[in-house]
Amino acid sequence: MKFLHDFMNMKSNGEKMTMLTAYDYPSAKQAEQAGIETILVGDSLGMTVLGYESTVQVTMQDMKHHAKAVRRGARDTFMVVDMPFGTVGVDDKTDMENAVELYQETNANALKMEGAHTAPLIKRCTQSGIPVVAHLGLTPQSFGITGYKLQAASKEAAEELIADAKLMEQSGAVMLVLEAIPSDLAATITKTLSIPVIGIGAGADTDGQVLVYHDVLNYGVDRKPKFVKRYGDFTTGVDALKAYHEEVKAGLFPSPEFTYKKQIMDEVDA
Ligand code: KIV
Ligand code: NA
Repeated sequence: MKFLHDFMNMKSNGEKMTMLTAYDYPSAKQAEQAGIETILVGDSLGMTVLGYESTVQVTMQDMKHHAKAVRRGARDTFMVVDMPFGTVGVDDKTDMENAVELYQETNANALKMEGAHTAPLIKRCTQSGIPVVAHLGLTPQSFGITGYKLQAASKEAAEELIADAKLMEQSGAVMLVLEAIPSDLAATITKTLSIPVIGIGAGADTDGQVLVYHDVLNYGVDRKPKFVKRYGDFTTGVDALKAYHEEVKAGLFPSPEFTYKKQIMDEVDA
């Protein structure tokens, strides 16, 4: 398994890092087999696998359930788990209890938290030994306020983001995810920080990229954001399911090849 010091070395050597979401045992196994360096159990699981409308509906139980399955499928890959909506920003004591619970029970390598307001919690987690990945720019848990669109698109907002990014590093964040921001701004933040910066919709000049498993494979998703490239097409799965359905109807499945040879009725009184 690659660890934080490896990611720091990759940044200084200019070696790009890959992060991919995974939500269950098979997707985690595939990500590990593909050589992905960090798996994110993203709260995007609310939409990709649970059919919720947004990440706001995702619970602590959901995150734990899925993260444990991912851990079983990818024991040798650095696993980051999202703190879901409503578990951060409650009060200091509750926030910390939630972080400890998620970290401990899922056997994660790091937790991820959205927004600059998490700075004090990142600091306390770091002091307690919990590595935290910060997430700035478009933070989907706040879509009710920000909408789903390019962030930091004005001079003031860009300057604020640079300050927030520095605050994340100072607070102890081990990595920073930047979502849906101008690529030149992402490049500047990447150069400014010493921790690895992973982008999604943030251009090519970050230290690495993160994408959502279902987006990469075109698996059950209806929307394709501008920054998503499809590397596979799981919609062919529907053709396979149709073929199964048709073959059963036509009496073609199961053919002898898929049938046990053992005959028992000679010995049975019936
Ligand atoms: O939940 C998620 O998938 C994420 C990534 C898009 C960064 O937070
Ligand atoms: Na997320």
